[in-house]
Amino acid sequence: MSSCSKTLLVCVKGKACSRRDSVELLKGLKKAIGKRGLDDFYQIKKAKCFGLCKYGPIMSIDDSIYGGVRKDDYKKIVKWHAKNTKPIKRLLITKKK
Ligand code: FES
Repeated sequence: MSSCSKTLLVCVKGKACSRRDSVELLKGLKKAIGKRGLDDFYQIKKAKCFGLCKYGPIMSIDDSIYGGVRKDDYKKIVKWHAKNTKPIKRLLITKKK
């Protein structure tokens, strides 16, 4: 795998997502990435509000924006996107424009 080939943006600066545990999402993704030795593959950045607050917590990867991400989704997201660019349909809110 190439280094730093994917960036995850997690909305932690928006109030709605913060109230819906987006900080836990950020920490959980970091932990899942670390456990799989993918620290050089993924880069995680804190993001501002995506304007999709009602679906929070919100994150994006590749050209997909995910909402309602739960604790049991962290591993799947990290594992899935290390191999695929297609979205996980259940989490998909919209595509980036
Ligand atoms: S607060 Fe996260 S999308 Fe608005």
